[in-house]
Amino acid sequence: MSAPTAVQVRTAAVVGTGVIGAAWVAGFLASGLDVVATDPAEGAEARLRSYLESSWDVVSELTGSAEADRGELRFVASAGEAARAADFVQENGPERLEAKRALLAEIDAAARPGVIIASSTSGIEPSALQAACAVDPGRVLVGHPFNPAHIIPLVEVVPGAATSPETAQVALAFYRRVGKKPILVRSEIPGHVTNRLQAALWREAYSLVDRGVVSVADIDTAISHGPGLRWAIVGPLTAQHLSGGAGGLRHLLEHLGPPTQKWMDDLGAPQLTHELADKLVAGMDEQLAGVDQAGLAADRDRLLVDIMRLKHTSRNLP
Ligand SMILES: NC(=O)c1ccc[n+]([C@@H]2O[C@H](COP(=O)([O-])OP(=O)(O)OC[C@H]3O[C@@H](n4cnc5c(N)ncnc54)[C@H](O)[C@@H]3O)[C@@H](O)[C@H]2O)c1
Repeated sequence: MSAPTAVQVRTAAVVGTGVIGAAWVAGFLASGLDVVATDPAEGAEARLRSYLESSWDVVSELTGSAEADRGELRFVASAGEAARAADFVQENGPERLEAKRALLAEIDAAARPGVIIASSTSGIEPSALQAACAVDPGRVLVGHPFNPAHIIPLVEVVPGAATSPETAQVALAFYRRVGKKPILVRSEIPGHVTNRLQAALWREAYSLVDRGVVSVADIDTAISHGPGLRWAIVGPLTAQHLSGGAGGLRHLLEHLGPPTQKWMDDLGAPQLTHELADKLVAGMDEQLAGVDQAGLAADRDRLLVDIMRLKHTSRNLP
């Protein structure tokens, strides 16, 4: 049997239905795919079904799906059984190398020829995962989503040394088909790309708090009421391009490049010690004193959906 193309995927397996796996199930079902899910935890199926009901309004709004378009969910007893029934497998087990390798070996042994196996791993390099897959390591790669993954469109597609070029291309096309915005990470690297970008910002934020330059709340205000608003629309490099006026990025880099180089050279390199962690947590406690955390998360999700809906109305966004 030949390998399914992205368009031919009708059934996706979701292995592990914790925070991230459940979000994948919600998105796949709303895109009209049937899903075969599995998770050995006590009560996992009931938790998943309850999550699907509570997240349906959001995912159906994002995908524009009606109830009738929703795929069917089947919950099965093992990763092998799920993989055998699927045209695409998304693995979301615990972030421990040996556990992942055992799970991927089981999936690889069961999946039909050519079925792509993607791991949601936040930081494990795909070559370390595909080395455990004796049948066909060429169909294994990383497909890394972002929390809340039923809403955030980004998926980092990271091929390993043995991944075939066709596997990466079909995975990219598949994620686009289910409403995601994938990027291809051309070389495997710890933390992939986006967590490294976040780490670059966190590094300086931690350093500034450590040095007493600003409070935790001030860091959050600086980003969420400042450049973060722009970054949700155009990304940090296009934001710079627009800051250059008619001369664009070229002018901006000539004009503000030299001071920026000085700032980059002066950035901190903090160690995340217990003392620094205590300082950051105390700052967060102070910032969120009296705030309802569940309400905050719900507002975050609602506003994210609004932003994404508004972004779809633009004709000019890249
Ligand atoms: N939470 C995040 O923000 C986030 C974001 C992106 C990617 N990820 C990645 O997604 C993956 C899952 O993370 P999570 O946050 O959903 O963790 P989680 O702890 O919520 O879920 C992991 C699930 O795997 C299940 N599991 C354990 N053994 C299993 C097995 N043999 N077969 C099937 N399922 C099994 C557990 O019961 C649990 O429900 C990890 O690789 C993580 O790095 C997490």
